[in-house]
Amino acid sequence: MDKVDRETPDLAEFMDHHDRKDLLRFLTCGSVDDGKSTLIGRLLYDTKLLFADQLATLTKDSRKHGTVGEDIDFALLMDGLEAEREQGITIDVAYRFFATEKRKFIVADTPGHEQYTRNMATGASTADLAVILIDARKGVLTQTRRHAFLASLLGIRHVILAVNKIDLVGHSEAVFDQIVADFRAFAVELKFETIQPIPLSARFGDNVIVRGPHLAWYAGPTLLEHLETIEVGQALRDRPFRMPVQWVNRPNLDFRGYSGTVASGRVAVGDVVAVATSGRTSVVRSIVTHDGEKRQALAGEAVTLVLADEIDVSRGDILADAEARPEVADQFAAHLVWMDDEPMLSGRPYLLKIGTRTVPASFTEIKHQIDVNTFQHLAAKTLTLNEVAVVNISTQEPIAFDPYEENHTTGGFIVIDRLSNLTVGAGMIDYALRRAHNIHWQALDLDKKRRAAAKDQRPAVLWFTGLSGSGKSTVANLVEKRLYAMGRHTYLLDGDNVRHGLNRDLGFTEADRVENIRRVAETAKLFADAGLIVLCSFISPFRAERDMARRLLDPGEFIEIFLDTPLAVAERRDPKGLYKRARAGEIKNFTGIDSPYEPPPSPEIRLVAAGATAETLAEQVVDYLIHHRFL
Ligand code: ADX
Repeated sequence: MDKVDRETPDLAEFMDHHDRKDLLRFLTCGSVDDGKSTLIGRLLYDTKLLFADQLATLTKDSRKHGTVGEDIDFALLMDGLEAEREQGITIDVAYRFFATEKRKFIVADTPGHEQYTRNMATGASTADLAVILIDARKGVLTQTRRHAFLASLLGIRHVILAVNKIDLVGHSEAVFDQIVADFRAFAVELKFETIQPIPLSARFGDNVIVRGPHLAWYAGPTLLEHLETIEVGQALRDRPFRMPVQWVNRPNLDFRGYSGTVASGRVAVGDVVAVATSGRTSVVRSIVTHDGEKRQALAGEAVTLVLADEIDVSRGDILADAEARPEVADQFAAHLVWMDDEPMLSGRPYLLKIGTRTVPASFTEIKHQIDVNTFQHLAAKTLTLNEVAVVNISTQEPIAFDPYEENHTTGGFIVIDRLSNLTVGAGMIDYALRRAHNIHWQALDLDKKRRAAAKDQRPAVLWFTGLSGSGKSTVANLVEKRLYAMGRHTYLLDGDNVRHGLNRDLGFTEADRVENIRRVAETAKLFADAGLIVLCSFISPFRAERDMARRLLDPGEFIEIFLDTPLAVAERRDPKGLYKRARAGEIKNFTGIDSPYEPPPSPEIRLVAAGATAETLAEQVVDYLIHHRFL
């Protein structure tokens, strides 16, 4: 704390001094062996113009302790990282800040090894340039290809090929030329706008900041010269105006403003802006900031916009240039980087966060996985940690977006696990799927209510879940017979039966079980829509999919019935002899043996087998239905 108080004035001064300079964000890729730390160390400490790490730590500390008011600017620079932290990603990206007389810089330093893809995805999403390090003795390696591919994937268009340890190959121009040629050969397909190769020796400082005496044959810029002068473009400011609405600021009845950070373009008082999804427009009446009102605001600035008309805008909407609006769709093709130990499963419900909007979404298809070392396209059914793929996504509601290539903020997203709330993936929207434009919900004159009324009943889905042999099918069968006797219209969907037809193509891997339940849930929804009381009897081992089934139905319609039969009891019963075979290793992925079962934390009905007959358990279900006025 002492330290914070003492150093704060310097920090404020520092920020103030460098405030008007433009900012270059870059990323360093390479492993420790390539001399990355030495290189960054050289850059940071040789310039003697910097605060670097200490500054970062200092700012974060001071924010945590809430002692400093002046360091807001710098804290904001770190916000992206903080946000990811709150999402629960464990990332290992160090952001360092430094400045020269010409420019200020933020370096994202991503460590190497296994977590590389994930770390790089986190560090690179805001970077303008990547410094790809190569050890001159080793030349272009598999990891060089991987780094270049990931940089390109994340939208980085400028690369510095830093051929380090050139002193160890006798400062050889020929070696350098060969490495550059190798790199250019495979980088052709990676869409970089500029590739600047620089021979250097981080250890001796040659070509990092100043030219080295041994590299007279090299006429290009030093690393710092290039970093200081490269034009990465005014890109963001020249793009159409976009501002994802962070919150609706309504302190009293007389004021209503929309707060957020301008993601791209600029906005001025008098501009016509549109709400991206609804298309409604209004005129900007005033722009309020921390420093009072402004006539205009640019990309990167945090503002509150007051509009001339009362139009419907809520958190998560995007305010956009009315003449150049984002697209709106609910199905997309995207690149996805998976970041979780749990595999990504098509059909599983996730949350997708794009800009300030969070929507339920699922991956409908893995079109192909991409080998990050060879760029080869591979077939894949699931994605595991650090894998990259092209996928199709379906969101529950239409969202406004720009292709990632055009706008990283409105085209980039993260994927959140619904149960753990952790970030499990990051992605980039490529384009909206055309098929989404051509399929519309057909409104029908007869609806669920009428169909149910004709049968004089309330539709419901009775979802029986539990281990194999827990008694699901037996009890469901008895319940259906009771309902039939009472003149109710029912249908029973049973695991074994459905797997003979509709789901004949599915096995028992996690991915297949997810798809099994997704299809069954959709079918149950249709039957409920037909006005029926639907009984579903499936192991349905995962909470995520049972919750998805629940969400597909109207509130109150889904009744989760947990057959709480211990594994030992189910195994003793072993009605089909499957447990015995599973124990003998003849059946793989058997629930309870080598495949998990996640019990429901709060089912509507819990049926405990101990001492009860199937008839009394069925009775409990019928009683519940009577009590809750389904019958
Ligand atoms: S679920 O997990 O996808 O919901 P479902 O209920 O459709 O499973 O099918 C379970 C039935 O398939 C079991 O009752 C059992 O008869 C049979 N079965 C065959 N192999 C397996 C397995 N590996 N794990 C569980 N059940 C299996």
